[in-house]
Formats: sequence, C-alpha cells, structure tokens
Amino acid sequence: MQKSRIQSNLNIALISTVIVILGFIPPIPLGFIPVPLVLQNLGVMLAGILLGAKKGTIAIILVFLVGIIIPTFSGSLTLAAITSPSSGYAVAWLFVPFFTSLGLQKFPIQNSYSQFFIVWLAGVLFVDFTGALWLAYATQISIYSAILSSLIFIPGDTLKEFIALIIAKRLLKIKPMSNV
Ligand code: BTN
Repeated sequence: MQKSRIQSNLNIALISTVIVILGFIPPIPLGFIPVPLVLQNLGVMLAGILLGAKKGTIAIILVFLVGIIIPTFSGSLTLAAITSPSSGYAVAWLFVPFFTSLGLQKFPIQNSYSQFFIVWLAGVLFVDFTGALWLAYATQISIYSAILSSLIFIPGDTLKEFIALIIAKRLLKIKPMSNV
C-alpha cells in the first residue's frame, strides 16, 4: 500500500476515533425535547473540514459500524437505537462532509467569515433542521414545534463549529489534509 494511502486511512481512523471518544462524554438532557446536548457533532464537523467528502463520510460510516457493537452515540448509545427521536440528527451527520466539501470547493474563498458560514450551513443548520424533521415524525409533534425546539441547539453547535475550525486550521498548518 502506498505511503499516502496509509496516511489517508490513518487520518480517517483518527477522526473516527475522535468522534467515538466524544461520544463517551455524557450528553446533557434538556427535558423539553428528547434530544440531548452532545459534543459528538464537533467531531463530525471536523471530519467534513479536515477529510473532505469521501474520506469524511467514510469516517462517519465507520462510527456507525462501530455503533453496531459498542455504544458510540452519546445520545442514543448503540446503532440499535437508530429509530430514537434523536437519530435524525445522527443520520444527517453522514451528509455533513459531502455538503461541507461541496460548499468549500464551489466557493474556494479565503475569507474566514464565508468559510464559517459554509461550514455552519452544512454542520449546524442542515443537521438541526433534518434532525427536527425526524423528531417531529418520531414524537408526533408538529414540524413547527420540532424546528422551534431544535433552535436551542444552534448557539452551542455554532460554538462547536468555531472550535472545530480553530482545531482544523491549527492541524492543517502542520499537515494539509483537505480544503480549509
Ligand atoms: C444520538 O446519539 O442519538 C444523536 C444525538 C444528536 C444530538 C443532536 S446533534 C445536533 C444537536 N446538537 C446537540 O448538541 N444535540 C443535537
């Protein structure tokens, strides 16, 4: 196997491990919505920023596969709970690297604010909106109420994105992996 292939597989494994480790950090239940605050989506955003579409998606699929046997999801534990009210958010994670990478490639701007906005659309708004749609279906509440409840995640998720971008930029100074 070529050296770059090995490096690339190691990067995927590393980000998957980070996402799994973040899943061990206990979630914070909110009471009024059956979806907790978690840190794991910070790792998902890192996957999109650092690895790009293909490798980032593979990293998240790996987390899902590991979730078949061990509790990798902080909100719903194993993949067996894929029909829980919070699983729409987790399923949306699978598309975050694709949308992040698509946005960053279509708008190859160096402006940090624009980059922040693109990652925010993919890693925060898309996930919280898609998650809310499933939440509405799973709990039989109106889509409007689900979206309104899901707004509670936006400030924290935006902060996580900010941290993910700082980590990514620091790491990429050491070793370029993808787009930012
Ligand atoms: C699961 O483990 O079932 C997934 C939990 C999903 C929690 C979502 S991710 C986006 C939003 N931000 C949070 O902190 N929690 C929700």
